[in-house]
Amino acid sequence: MAAVETKFEGQVALVKIDNPPVNAAGIDVRIGLVNAVRELEEDDRVKVIALYAAGRTFVAGADIREFGQPPKQPMLPEVCEILEASAKPIVCVLHGTTLGGGLEIALSCQARVGIKGLKLGLPEVNLGLLPGAGGTQRLPRLVEGMTALTMITSGKPISAEAALEAGLLDDLQDGVPAEVALAAGRQVLDGALTPRVTAHLENRITTNDLDAFRAKTRGEVAERALKAAEASNLPLSDGLKEERRLFTEAMASNAHKGLKHAFFAERAVSHIPESKAEARDLQTGGVIGGGTMGSGIATAMLLAGMPVTLIEMEEGRVAFARDTITKNLEGAVKRGKLNAEQRDATLAKLTCTTDMSALADVDVVIEAVFESMDVKREVFGKLDQICKQGAILATNTSYLDVNEIAGVTSRPQDVIGLHFFSPAHVMRLLEVVVGKDTAPETVATSFKLAKKLRKVAVRSGVCDGFIGNRILAHYRKSTAYMQLDGAPFEQIDAALEDFGFAMGPFAVSDLAGQDIGWATRKRQAEFRPDEERYVEIADRVCEQGWFGRKSGKGFYIYDGKNRSVNPAVAEFAQAEREAKGIAARSFTDAEIVDRYMAAMVSEAARVVEDKIALRPIDVDAVFLFGYGFPRHWGGPLQYADITGLAVIVQRIEQYAQEDPYYWQVPALLRELVEAGKTFNDLNKEG
Ligand code: 3HC
Ligand code: NAI
Repeated sequence: MAAVETKFEGQVALVKIDNPPVNAAGIDVRIGLVNAVRELEEDDRVKVIALYAAGRTFVAGADIREFGQPPKQPMLPEVCEILEASAKPIVCVLHGTTLGGGLEIALSCQARVGIKGLKLGLPEVNLGLLPGAGGTQRLPRLVEGMTALTMITSGKPISAEAALEAGLLDDLQDGVPAEVALAAGRQVLDGALTPRVTAHLENRITTNDLDAFRAKTRGEVAERALKAAEASNLPLSDGLKEERRLFTEAMASNAHKGLKHAFFAERAVSHIPESKAEARDLQTGGVIGGGTMGSGIATAMLLAGMPVTLIEMEEGRVAFARDTITKNLEGAVKRGKLNAEQRDATLAKLTCTTDMSALADVDVVIEAVFESMDVKREVFGKLDQICKQGAILATNTSYLDVNEIAGVTSRPQDVIGLHFFSPAHVMRLLEVVVGKDTAPETVATSFKLAKKLRKVAVRSGVCDGFIGNRILAHYRKSTAYMQLDGAPFEQIDAALEDFGFAMGPFAVSDLAGQDIGWATRKRQAEFRPDEERYVEIADRVCEQGWFGRKSGKGFYIYDGKNRSVNPAVAEFAQAEREAKGIAARSFTDAEIVDRYMAAMVSEAARVVEDKIALRPIDVDAVFLFGYGFPRHWGGPLQYADITGLAVIVQRIEQYAQEDPYYWQVPALLRELVEAGKTFNDLNKEG
């Protein structure tokens, strides 16, 4: 099947792009388009060219998989220039998501007709790039300056209706692309649609528009995009040259490497060994426990349109769960995701009860009761009695052994961990924890559920904390060590926030409540190896009853929305240093980031080595979608690739001179360095 095909209908040539799944403008499409236009220019039968695409969308952009590969001619900017210079008018029919290079193709045609439901945008900044095939130069010639600048610098798509109003579309139709394309071609023939060459139009970005955007545009990526748009004040050919120069610069940036990786991470995680297994039907859901997580999970299912039955222990908790879910849905109304009528219809699908037998017919049950093996064992014993055969029995446990939980049932093949993140109706990550007896269909069904809930599902093996919390438990210690050795906690927070985390680790502890970590540390005390350093500063803070935000004090002191440093923390640190004979030293912000990231990469590498994660990119996805990892770094293992694995090994070896127990080079990291390979090489190997 050719990527571009031409058919003739009288004087209209119908040119169809067909490059599944999203008609990306890869090399076959580019060659096909150039050949089609060249041939049609010479064909006397043809007066108008109508361009459209097969499948679910018009061209969704350049082919991202080609980025970083040796360039293949013709490149998209040349294709666009050929379309723009065509001796015969080209009307372009757009449907689905016309994005990036797809919109740039459309901008180069002489007329644009949309099909209802269409979205149009220039999302290149989300990949650390800017529109590189004329988008920054042609869009401001078709629409007002502010509209063009918003689309170019924000990456957000607009609706077909907005595009029609802005002048980006000449017409909006209902129908299938091939038919609309023929009709549009005939409209050009009979004069109902007047073709215009974008290059001949005046740039509409004014000095005032630019000033307004300069004042509010932040970050290297958006600033570069703005600079390119500014060049639309130049003659088109000069503006295109400047756009190309900036695009090439963006392509070489670390931000692009990280963001491109993040784009693929979101999609790569769905490629699992169980993909071919038949997923079961999923209509109805059950949740046990209506606390923080249970209410959030129930909300997520309701928002996906599923009827939900929620079980609590007693009437008071039943009412509390219903209230929390109602508030969550209210929040969705405020954010414009639901209207009042939809909220009521959604709430009508919720049953809250103390009677577990109400779960007899549900397709999937997710347990979110207290984090105690005894309680979970009891719950799963009952579920085994009550639930219909074939129902998925899932636990939302954060750390407990999924195999042990499955072992109390007579159907371990149907038991799985579905680890949501708080707030469960907002956070996108879902760790799917596959036990030793979990059946492939159960895994496939869980991924299907994740899709329904619009979550990013990542497959994890069973271990203490699964992928994310296991890695977190390790690198979190590095911050306590730095604190004891002399780095003020607020410097650690600031350095990591500057690196890109939304919140530093100490602020996160205060937000989550320090009592949880304290209880875990007390529980683990008897198992702690003698060689492991232990820092008591946080225990001192907790002993004062300072658990963080909820008690008004923790590492920080809270006053409404403001926070200040709690001076007692530095005193606790100093006292511990004196007791342990440690001389405080200073840390640079860069060293703080290096140590934190080296610790994270170490445990992440072990998680891959132990086959808990399928591939390095799965670990990256967990951190991007569940732990607020800065997207422009692409995830911890992509950060490691960008930094250089040999550099990370060197750092670990250097830190190991002070603490050889904590700082150990993972075998996998050493092997990769010796083989001259990267984590991305492992991703490609599958
Ligand atoms: N290039 C290559 N592959 C792409 C792609 C692209 N532009 N867009 C999507 N794909 C792939 C995905 O990786 C996925 O592959 P997989 O099945 O092997 O995992 C497959 O197509 C389907 O994609 P989705 O799962 O994302 O499908 P959805 O239907 O959920 O979403 C979409 C469709 C809205 C088009 C979404 O894929 C998307 O946002 N794509 C990226 C759009 C984009 O960023 N375009 C700009 C590219 S940069 C550019 O054009 C530069 C130019 O200015 C020179
Ligand atoms: P929570 O304490 O807020 O809620 C637990 C709820 O379960 C309570 O409402 C309680 O009444 C109910 N419950 C206890 N036993 C029950 C039983 N036998 N039958 C019915 N209801 C029962 O706890 P939270 O935070 O919601 O955690 C629940 C589970 O989710 C735990 O396993 C936890 O480790 C896990 N988790 C928690 C996260 C968090 O951020 N809070 C994140 C991810 C997982």
